[in-house]
Amino acid sequence: MHNLPKFDRHRRLRSSAAMRSLVRETEVTVNDLLYPMFIIEGENVKNEVVSMPGIFQISIDLLADEMKEIKNLGIKAVMLFGVITNKDEAGTGAYSESGIIQEATRLIKKEVPEMLVIADTCLCEYTSHGHCGVIENGQVANDASLKSLAKTAVSQAKAGADIIAPSNMMDGFVITIREALDEAGFSEIPIMSYAIKYSSAFYGPFRDAADSTPQFGDRKQYQMDPANRIEALREAESDVQEGADFLIVKPALSYLDIIRDVKNNFNLPVVAYNVSGEYSMVKAAAMNGWIDEEAIVMEKMLSIKRAGANLILTYHAKDIAKWLKNE
Ligand code: PBG
Repeated sequence: MHNLPKFDRHRRLRSSAAMRSLVRETEVTVNDLLYPMFIIEGENVKNEVVSMPGIFQISIDLLADEMKEIKNLGIKAVMLFGVITNKDEAGTGAYSESGIIQEATRLIKKEVPEMLVIADTCLCEYTSHGHCGVIENGQVANDASLKSLAKTAVSQAKAGADIIAPSNMMDGFVITIREALDEAGFSEIPIMSYAIKYSSAFYGPFRDAADSTPQFGDRKQYQMDPANRIEALREAESDVQEGADFLIVKPALSYLDIIRDVKNNFNLPVVAYNVSGEYSMVKAAAMNGWIDEEAIVMEKMLSIKRAGANLILTYHAKDIAKWLKNE
């Protein structure tokens, strides 16, 4: 008998693909994916977003075919953002009955009823100044904005939205929207709250896609400081108390610690938003041939799930669904 020093042989469990599959702790499936989409006015429009290759602003008349493709890939839910030209100070386009998201939602629920429609509830795509709320005395006014957001949520639910996702970061938006939905007879509609949304440079490409860049100042008075971690728990706590059904952490990759904190501290499904800048960086490097796109994207998704996310909002969703199908 040799007297070998005692150490653990971790490599035993890595010896073959089959062995590795037995001990794999995290998996990404198509059920984890939520696909964000940009709906634009006009007919027969399919504009590729320059800073987001593979992502399009699409008009409603082309939406039925697109949704069928998405459904055939096995994706269960889409999140809708509107792109309009006729904006005003108050952002009334957000809650107009014939608004772009309302129309798109009606069409999707008619053409592909099983598809879950998540309506992004915010004003920035509809206000002439590009802020997520209404302006009073040169400031984004919290309580006045809540009224418009509640109206927006109700109009989205009326149009058939399955989930309301308020992204505006006004204080009290969950309870205000919950009460408005309940009052309008939509107590069954869940709220997927952007509970923790940082003021992030990673949103740049989205603002090109949604034409929602603030025309003055920035969003630092309502979105969170990237330096803060405890504050994220306070944000999540209020949303849980106010009645949120899902908690979003946004962005994802630079905030994996926050995803884990939220997972450990609350008992609601955690949604990570793998945002536009995170997508664009991978695309740019892949187009240069510098990285293996599929491998990088799957590793990103694994890391987000490993951090504790139950669901991932990602522009890569269609590609991932295709890769998973071909496996
Ligand atoms: C704001 C909103 C933003 C995103 C979605 N909704 C951020 C912002 O402009 O401040 C960003 C999403 C992304 O970057 O993919 N209502």
